[in-house]
Amino acid sequence: MMQTRSMKILVVWASRHGSTEEVANAIVDELRAEGIDADIKQASEVTDISSYDGFVMGSSVYMTQWEDSMRRFIRANQAELFEKELWAFSVGLSGVQTGMPKDPVRVGPVLLRVEPRDHKTFAGRLQPQKLSLRERSIARLGGAVEGDFRDWDEIRSWARDIAKDIKSLDN
Ligand SMILES: Cc1cc2nc3c(=O)[nH]c(=O)nc-3n(C[C@H](O)[C@H](O)[C@H](O)COP(=O)(O)O)c2cc1C
Repeated sequence: MMQTRSMKILVVWASRHGSTEEVANAIVDELRAEGIDADIKQASEVTDISSYDGFVMGSSVYMTQWEDSMRRFIRANQAELFEKELWAFSVGLSGVQTGMPKDPVRVGPVLLRVEPRDHKTFAGRLQPQKLSLRERSIARLGGAVEGDFRDWDEIRSWARDIAKDIKSLDN
């Protein structure tokens, strides 16, 4: 009998103050609940990606850019990632309120290198007491609103859409 192997997925995340890490955890939980074989790792800790068929890559956005560790992960694995199935998400506060930090425009080029099937932006969290002085003043200058704007239903439902996509790729 022919053996079919389902895709193995790695959720890779980069987070400075924890809100994106929690989003990544919710996504892997949801994928596993849908029966997907998924691991989760921080971008800076990923060494070998050869055993994975697909990646859900997510980073927080600072000054319109993905975190250094995520950009390094993509650059280091670009050729291999190009051959795999990719989904991407950004966590930021653009769209939360006008006058807030700019759209993550520079997130684009790093993603163009690898062509994800989808890229979703989720509203994040701003907790001034967690920030460095410098970050706090940048956030204040940008007119940032304090609060947790993460929409867990939206996040989990996006993860379920990915699970569906993976299952259709498996068939
Ligand atoms: C200094 C600073 C700069 C930021 N720049 C942006 C930005 O350019 N675009 C954006 O959408 N959000 C921006 N944000 C909001 C963060 O992306 C948001 O707080 C996110 O949830 C942080 O994720 P983390 O907790 O995983 O580090 C900024 C926040 C800070 C403190």
